[in-house]
Amino acid sequence: MIKYAQVFQGTAFTSESPKEVKILKDYLFCINDNGMIEKVVAPEDADYPVLLNSYEGAENFHHLAEGQYFLPGFVDLHVHAPQWAQSGTALDIPLYDWLNTYTFPIESKFSDLEFAKNVYEDVVNTLLANGTTTALYFATVHKEASFMLAEICANKGQRGLVGKVVMDNPDQNPDFYRDASTQTALEDTEEFIIAVKELAKSTKQGVYPVVTPRFIPSCTDDALKGLGELAAKYDTHIQSHCSESDWEHGYVQDRFQKNDAFALNDFGLLGDKSVMAHCNFLDDDDAHLFAETGTAVCHCPISNAYFANSVIPIAHLHAKGVEIGLGSDISGGFSPSLFDNARQAVISSRMLEDGVNTALPASERGVPNSRITINEAFYLATAGGGEGLSLPIGRLAENYAWDVQTIDTKLATAKLPIFNAEEDLHDVFQKIMYLVRPENIREVWVQGEKVHSRM
Ligand code: GUN
Ligand code: FE
Repeated sequence: MIKYAQVFQGTAFTSESPKEVKILKDYLFCINDNGMIEKVVAPEDADYPVLLNSYEGAENFHHLAEGQYFLPGFVDLHVHAPQWAQSGTALDIPLYDWLNTYTFPIESKFSDLEFAKNVYEDVVNTLLANGTTTALYFATVHKEASFMLAEICANKGQRGLVGKVVMDNPDQNPDFYRDASTQTALEDTEEFIIAVKELAKSTKQGVYPVVTPRFIPSCTDDALKGLGELAAKYDTHIQSHCSESDWEHGYVQDRFQKNDAFALNDFGLLGDKSVMAHCNFLDDDDAHLFAETGTAVCHCPISNAYFANSVIPIAHLHAKGVEIGLGSDISGGFSPSLFDNARQAVISSRMLEDGVNTALPASERGVPNSRITINEAFYLATAGGGEGLSLPIGRLAENYAWDVQTIDTKLATAKLPIFNAEEDLHDVFQKIMYLVRPENIREVWVQGEKVHSRM
C-alpha cells in the first residue's frame, strides 16, 4: 500500500462551482510528502476501511472531533501589509486624500526595518489566525522591507505573494515617498524578483515575487513598460489597482483616452498571472479583455463601500467568463478576515439588486440579477482566488495543496447555534460562513504543515 505522509479524517466543505458547495462527509484526505492532496476517499469507497485500519491511531493520522469541519484555507487576493498599522482609521475621507494624508506617510516609515518587522510579523500572524493561507501582498517601495515580508511569510509557512511597490511618477507621488527614479524602480524590482525566487527554494509552500505598479497614476509610461517586460522575463505574477474610483478612472481616461484595462494591456500587464484589485468601473469590453487574457478581478467589498461607493456586478462578470477572487484590501477595508469580506460581498450585492432608495417605486430600484449567495462568496474566497493566481489551491480535491482551516463549532466561548445533532450540513455550512469568529478557527495548515493553532 502507498505510504502517505499524513491522513486526515473529517467532514469538509469545498466549492464544486461558483454556486455549488460540495459536502464531503467523513472523508479521508491522503497527503503526500509535498503537502499535496494525493487521494480523496469517500466512506463508501473500497479502500476506505483498509486505509482507516492502517492509519487510525498512528501519529500521522488526524481525526476531527464532533462539531469540527474542514474548510479550504482562504486566498486573500489584495492586502497592503504596511497598512495594517492604520487599519480601521481614517475611512471617512476620499481615496485621494486618504492616500496622501494617511497612507503614504505610514508606508514611508517602512524604510525602518525594525518598524517593518513588527508590523509585518503581526499582519502575517493575524491573517493566518483568520484562516488566510495564501495572501497577495503589496509591500512598499522599499526593496529591503519588501524582501523582509517575503522572508516572514517563508518562515511562518504562509504562501505569500509579495510585491515591491513601484511609484516613480514625480507628478503624482510625494517626494518623501516614491522611487528615486524610473531606473532605480526597475532595478530594485528586478533585484527583488531574483532574491524572492531564491528564497522560495527553501520553502515548502512557496513564496512568489509580484510585479506591482501601484496603479497607473503612480507610474510613468517607462516604468509601466519596463514592469511588463520584467514580468514576462521572469514569468511572475502581476498586481495593481484597476478602475477603482471616479477620480482614478477619470485620470487614466485623461492620460490615455482609454480605460485602465486597455492601458494596462498595452504595457503587457494583463495575463493569466495578473490580478487587478477593485475593478469597479469595468465595462463589457474591459471584462471581455480580462476573460480573453485570463486576468482576474479581486473583489474588495468592504473597501469598495468606503472608497468607491460602489458594488461590482459579480454575477455579470462571472457570466462574461472573468475569474474573480476576494480581497480584504487592508486597510481600505478594515477587516483582516475573509469571512467578514464574504459576508459583505453578499450584503453589498443584495443592496445593488434590491436598491436602497425607498423614495423610488420598487420596480425602479436596483440592478436586476446582481445578488450573490454565500456559496458564491465562499467560492470567491477559496477556489476563485486559486484560479486567479493559477495555483493549485482553494479546493479540497486531489492534486490541490493541503491548505486548510479546521473550524470548531462547539467551542465553549464561541459556540455556533447548532442545537440539532442531525442538523443538515448545508445549514451548518451557512452558519459557519455567517457566524464564525477567529476563535472558532482551531488550526490552520498550509501545504501539509500546521502553521497556526489556537491551543
Ligand atoms: N489605489 C492606489 N493605492 C491604493 C491603496 O493603497 N488602497 C486603495 N484602496 N486604493 C489604492
Ligand atoms: Fe488596495
